[in-house]
Amino acid sequence: MLLLLNRTFLTLKSLRKVSPTCWHHTLTNDLINNMDKKATWDRFYTENSRKGTFKNFEWFFGFHSVKDSILPLLQSMSDSPAPLHVLDIGCGTSALGPGIYRHSQCAVKVTCADISQVAVRLMQEHAESTPVQPCNPASTLVFREMDCTELEGHFEPRSLALIVDKGTTDALVRSKEGRAKAGRIVRQCLTVLTRSGSLLQFSDEDPDARLLWLEKESQGSEVAADISVHEVGELRGITYFCYLITPYTAQH
Ligand SMILES: C[S@@+](CC[C@H](N)C(=O)[O-])C[C@H]1O[C@@H](n2cnc3c(N)ncnc32)[C@H](O)[C@@H]1O
Repeated sequence: MLLLLNRTFLTLKSLRKVSPTCWHHTLTNDLINNMDKKATWDRFYTENSRKGTFKNFEWFFGFHSVKDSILPLLQSMSDSPAPLHVLDIGCGTSALGPGIYRHSQCAVKVTCADISQVAVRLMQEHAESTPVQPCNPASTLVFREMDCTELEGHFEPRSLALIVDKGTTDALVRSKEGRAKAGRIVRQCLTVLTRSGSLLQFSDEDPDARLLWLEKESQGSEVAADISVHEVGELRGITYFCYLITPYTAQH
C-alpha cells in the first residue's frame, strides 16, 4: 500500500474534482490543457510558493512510496566505481531526487531537471538552506532548468544509469499538444541510458493504454526497448503503476 505522507499530493483525476471555489481553480483549467507548457508550470509553482515556507509538492505520492522500486535497482547496478548518474525528468518541487541522493547506499550523481525555472530555483534555494547528508559521501545532487525533450543536448549517449519520471509523461500525454513531446522524451531517454540502464515511469495510466503507447513510441527509437509494468499500489481509490523501460540488449 502507498504511504500517505504529510505533504501536498495531486493527481490529474483529483484535479478534475476540484471545487470552483478552490484557490487554484483558474490555474486548474490552465494546467489540464497546457501541462506541456513552461509558462503553465512557472505560474503553478509561483502560486504554490506564495503559501508560505517551502514545502515539497508531490504529484501522486512521495519518495517513500516508490523507494522500493528504485533503491534495489540502483544497488543492482552498483558494480561500477563511478557514481551512477540518475536523472529525475520534470522534477518539479518533488523530494524524489533528493530522496534518492539521501538514501542510496551506492554513490549516485542525481540531476533533478525541470522546464520550469521557478521550480528549479525553489529546489536549489531549499537545498542550500536545508542541506541533507547523503548515505554515500561520494553522492552529489544538482538542479537544472532543462527541456527534457532535448536530453541529447545535455547528456552523452549511454551515460545515465537511471531516469525517473513521476507524473511528467502523464501530464504531457494528457495535455492538448503534449503527446508528441512525451514520445520524444521516451526516445531521448533510450539514447542517453546506458545499455544496462532503466527508465521508470510512475503513472496512474492503465497498462492497456500505456503499454501500447510505449511500444509504439519506442519503435521509433534507434534503441530497441524492453517494457514491463508492476503495480505500485492504491491511493484514495486510484491504482498506480511503475513502467520499466530498458534498452534491449542481446543478453536479455
Ligand atoms: C505533473 S508534474 C510532476 C512533478 C514532479 N515529478 C512530482 O512528482 O511532483 C510535471 C512536471 O513536468 C515538468 N515539465 C513539463 N514539460 C517538461 C519538459 N519538456 N521538460 C522538463 N520538464 C517538464 C513541469 O514543469 C512539471 O514540474
